[in-house]
Amino acid sequence: MAGTVIAANWKMNKTTGQAIEFARGLKDALLKNPVAATVVIAPPFTGIGALATEFKDSNIFLAAQNMYPASQGAFTGEISGEMIVDAGCRYCIVGHSERRRLFGEDNAFINAKITAALHYGLMPIFCIGETLAERNSGATFMVLAEQLKEGLNKIPTNDIKKTVIAYEPVWAIGTGLTATPGQVQEAHLFIRNLLSEMYREKEAAGIPIIYGGSVTAANIGSLMAEQEINGALVGSASLELASFLAIVNFH
Ligand code: PGA
Repeated sequence: MAGTVIAANWKMNKTTGQAIEFARGLKDALLKNPVAATVVIAPPFTGIGALATEFKDSNIFLAAQNMYPASQGAFTGEISGEMIVDAGCRYCIVGHSERRRLFGEDNAFINAKITAALHYGLMPIFCIGETLAERNSGATFMVLAEQLKEGLNKIPTNDIKKTVIAYEPVWAIGTGLTATPGQVQEAHLFIRNLLSEMYREKEAAGIPIIYGGSVTAANIGSLMAEQEINGALVGSASLELASFLAIVNFH
């Protein structure tokens, strides 16, 4: 059975001071009321160092929002997996639809990032999801299968156990349109079955498949009630502490 992961994707938000204020509040709240879920915060790169200090000796983990697959070299503006680990991250978001759409990332490039992340001991939070046009034309499962197979190309069984899959339908991200629990459950079941075919069933059963797309305190409960939904990747509703706390305390 996969564990529960609730991750905050802050995207390009929060100065270091704002990040620290949030982190202190979160740490205090979770010390007083521990939650069963693994809680992950993905700040912008500039906030990682300060939050690593804040979260030292806590069970809140850090994720980077992106990485470059090469280990070092002449890649102006990029950050390697090794640097991300060194800064204090346990996870790295890979293949977010904003990166695919705005920065032209394709499945092969995302596969290179996942390979590099695992090489450095980072757990990838690998995002996949269809656009509205793809859903409306009945191509959802085809798109998910292609993104999953190409993104995980040559990733061995031992490494898949360290991966989190985030199903994020593009039409539900930042739009206020949440996929229904039934739509998410259906997609997650498809992903789980495909992972069972690609890997062994036992390993596939242990991979957290989390949902992202307009998750809020109001809809997290009904999403988490579905068997195959193992958590959430939360954007807008993770920026405010009270709202994110309500999400991690979804029970
Ligand atoms: P949202 O973003 O919660 O604002 O829709 C989710 C994401 O992009 O990961």
